[in-house]
Amino acid sequence: MCGIAGYVGTKNASEVIIEELKRMEYRGYDSAGITVTHKDELFTLKTVGKLNALEELISAQKTKLNSHCAIGHTRWATHGKPSSANAHPHTTPKVSVVHNGIIENSAELKNKLIKLGYEFESETDTEAVAKLLDYYYNGDPVETILCTQKELVGTYALGIMFKGYDDTLFALRKESPLIVGLGNNENFLCSDLNAILNYTNKYYILENNELAVIKKDSVAVFDQNGQKLDKKINIATWQADVNDKHGFEHFMLKEIFEQPNVLKEILKHNIKNGLPDLELQALPNLEEIEKIIIVACGSARYAGLLGKYWIEKFARLPVEVEIASEFRYSYPILTSKTLVICISQSGETADTLAALRLAKLNNVPTLGIINVKGSSMSREADHVIYTNAGAEVAVASTKAYMAQICILYLLAVELAFKRKTLQESQIFELSKDILDIPEKLLNILKDNLKEVENLANFCSQFSNIFFIGRGLDSAIAKEGALKLKELAYINAQSYVAGELKHGPISLITENALVISLLSQERLQKKMISNILEAQARGGQILLISKEKILQNIPAQMKTLELASCNDDVMPFLTVVVLQLFAYFVAKTLGHDVDKPRNLAKSVTVE
Ligand code: AGP
Repeated sequence: MCGIAGYVGTKNASEVIIEELKRMEYRGYDSAGITVTHKDELFTLKTVGKLNALEELISAQKTKLNSHCAIGHTRWATHGKPSSANAHPHTTPKVSVVHNGIIENSAELKNKLIKLGYEFESETDTEAVAKLLDYYYNGDPVETILCTQKELVGTYALGIMFKGYDDTLFALRKESPLIVGLGNNENFLCSDLNAILNYTNKYYILENNELAVIKKDSVAVFDQNGQKLDKKINIATWQADVNDKHGFEHFMLKEIFEQPNVLKEILKHNIKNGLPDLELQALPNLEEIEKIIIVACGSARYAGLLGKYWIEKFARLPVEVEIASEFRYSYPILTSKTLVICISQSGETADTLAALRLAKLNNVPTLGIINVKGSSMSREADHVIYTNAGAEVAVASTKAYMAQICILYLLAVELAFKRKTLQESQIFELSKDILDIPEKLLNILKDNLKEVENLANFCSQFSNIFFIGRGLDSAIAKEGALKLKELAYINAQSYVAGELKHGPISLITENALVISLLSQERLQKKMISNILEAQARGGQILLISKEKILQNIPAQMKTLELASCNDDVMPFLTVVVLQLFAYFVAKTLGHDVDKPRNLAKSVTVE
């Protein structure tokens, strides 16, 4: 996703901007740019490609960039292809703008501005904002911005500079996140808190329709009527080590290896005296909830599928798992006895945020399972359970996903305890099962790494890969297929194993690799038949299963053995193997593991 950076203070502004943008690289981008004030002029440099290309431009024009006030941007293309012309900032003689979000009426604005004599060099919606500001500029930036905003339809986080205001940044927010960092004789602007945590941990969060005037020694925030607002200073309690791989080759591998500790911390804080306690007291009438709707995107939704299984099995509560981009345009049945749970690592995914707002509009209690503190969802949900997985830098979600499913498992057990659908002894048993998982994960990372890497090398020759499973394994199969798609660019598909014979089995030939997940002892007979059906049609089988089942497997096939835990907690073990598998296949194929093509860490556009 795009990254916005701003600085005004006593340091070299271009150096700070580059530093801020580097801390947002993990979000994914395809071009970058910067504007500084120089001798009362607005001076812009921008280029397609990575930040080092921008740094080269800056070093070639060092003298002009000796400024203490600047805005910068990394762009993830929405309107218009990746190109220098489409890169931000968009600058006119009077104003320079960087933008996250989508201006839905940009075509209309462009037509109006062309009639007023403006010419357009780019395909972006943002250029229309820059030229509209230019058109309305009357020497008073705040008035100009407020007047321009009246004509904007859509979502926007804007960083703005005006000619003649060498020491001032302006910012305006609607929907897309925007933060003002508060330093010592210096202040910052960013779209992601990680960008500035090395400079300051104090910040304002701009709310919708708030406008900030940022100088090095003052920050004033106004509402859309120009009324000055008192803003609460937030203090970030965590450091962002978003640039440190701690010796690992990739952030993704580092984050996979962090999973045992992430789970250990979650369990330490959320299991008390053998019972889960997610501190749900803030959620009104939890006992009266009659239905749960889980809404999320991508891996977060696949985590929700596991949550459905556990909550329905343990707490006997009906759960629907919805794709956020569908939910928000459907006609869901929502009552005060429905609990809507939004799962999101970033807390900024546009579709999931919109789903949360739809639930709130219908006066439905909402719970967020969120990783990033201070994110939009974490501030708008009625109650939040933080996954506390730490900053997840790799675009492919691993430790955040693992933390999500751990919280969902604990939630299912806690709901069962509150609703008395299980005996206390069963609750203790289930809590004990999950407490053993961090150690089991550690063993896999220690003992199976080379084995998984070898299997990945063997499998990277296949372009036709299927993941199949039943019950909990069918949800993991979806996550495994997604990981391979997003990292190895292999069109891997997942199927519920019982569905193969209803069509997909026609795709199984000797060129197909069928990764079969069999961790559920109670489903092993049926699953083995499905595997043998695929094998009989020439499919190459890779079976990932627990030792207790593998001893009953009749035919020759590649296998990977997992420790034999209770069926309900086996997903934690299976998924870490599939994460490693996708990692090694992507690495074997020479792909950018941490920043896969076309993807962004947080999809803040619809
Ligand atoms: C997962 O590997 C992907 N990066 C993607 O599917 C992600 O899970 C999805 O975009 C949801 O993001 P969120 O958790 O930040 O809302």
